[in-house]
Amino acid sequence: MKVAVVGATGLVGSEMLKVLAERNFPLTELIPVASERSKGKEIEFKGKQYKVVTPSEAIALKPDVALFSAGGGTSTEYAPLFAEAGITVIDNSSAWRMDPTKKLVVPEVNGDVLTAEDKIIANPNCSTIQMVVVLKPLHEKYKIKRVVVSTYQSVTGTGVKAVQQLHDERTGVEGEKAYPYQIDLNVIPQIDVFQDNGYTKEEMKMILETNKIMQDDSIRVTATTVRIPVMGGHSESVNIEFENDFDLNELREALRAQEGVIVVDNPANLEYPMPKDAHGKDEVFVGRIRRDESQDKTVNLWIVADNLRKGAATNAVQVAELLSKKGLI
Ligand code: A2P
Repeated sequence: MKVAVVGATGLVGSEMLKVLAERNFPLTELIPVASERSKGKEIEFKGKQYKVVTPSEAIALKPDVALFSAGGGTSTEYAPLFAEAGITVIDNSSAWRMDPTKKLVVPEVNGDVLTAEDKIIANPNCSTIQMVVVLKPLHEKYKIKRVVVSTYQSVTGTGVKAVQQLHDERTGVEGEKAYPYQIDLNVIPQIDVFQDNGYTKEEMKMILETNKIMQDDSIRVTATTVRIPVMGGHSESVNIEFENDFDLNELREALRAQEGVIVVDNPANLEYPMPKDAHGKDEVFVGRIRRDESQDKTVNLWIVADNLRKGAATNAVQVAELLSKKGLI
């Protein structure tokens, strides 16, 4: 299979290359794509050098599938052109996620919605992906009524500029800023732009995307999304109210049985998920699983995943793997 990675020089794009190599994706040719600025630059993949091309050049090379992570503008402009040329696009930007004609897919949760007609498939927001993988088995078993989530998000989610800002602040260098405030030794309760309702766009993504992926608008979700000076992993404090009561051990077992989830929950040994441990991993880690003693039929838990991996690159590659397994590409 010929695979194009659009945004191959970026943070998510380079993670996509790593994931494709590690998972031994059945790839016969790689087409690294970036902006005009990077044209001709060499990228190494599995010991071979590949030259970066522009999106228009990539279309002419006719890849079977294109993984996009080059920002919403690039996706809006080029994904339809790739699709028209018969190339299946898996897009990590937010450009197509809420388009009712496009599928928003986390393979372990709703991989069954994919059909041969889907030419542009959206990869959900990083914070949403790690949450829905955990919500899925719990919704099946106990029916979720409401979710209250607060996030602790890594700077890697913002891209190369943000990682540089944190690094510059730590080394006393005056550089370009990705955030309106200092991020080192600070916490910024704003991710993406504010909406008229007082929520940020990131918070609204978590709300709307969760309903779409879970295919259930009756699940009520509210979110507060926060940027913290951490590299390589998002954490989430999640409070889930169910329609039906649960046994805590059974709930834990349901999470253990869920594909893509690892339960790390042993307070006696101070074991719980942390971004430092999730870094570079493809799974979603869940711990601090306990009853909310202030309310019936409600559980509290703590979810951590590498936002560049399961939150972006890994999920996109898994969608491509699923399409290939189903014979859709
Ligand atoms: P380039 O390196 O040439 O600017 P990040 O989110 O980590 O900052 O990365 C953004 C990625 O999107 C980079 O690979 C960047 O390429 C790519 N990109 C940005 N604008 C375009 C564009 N107009 N066409 C293709 N790729 C783009």
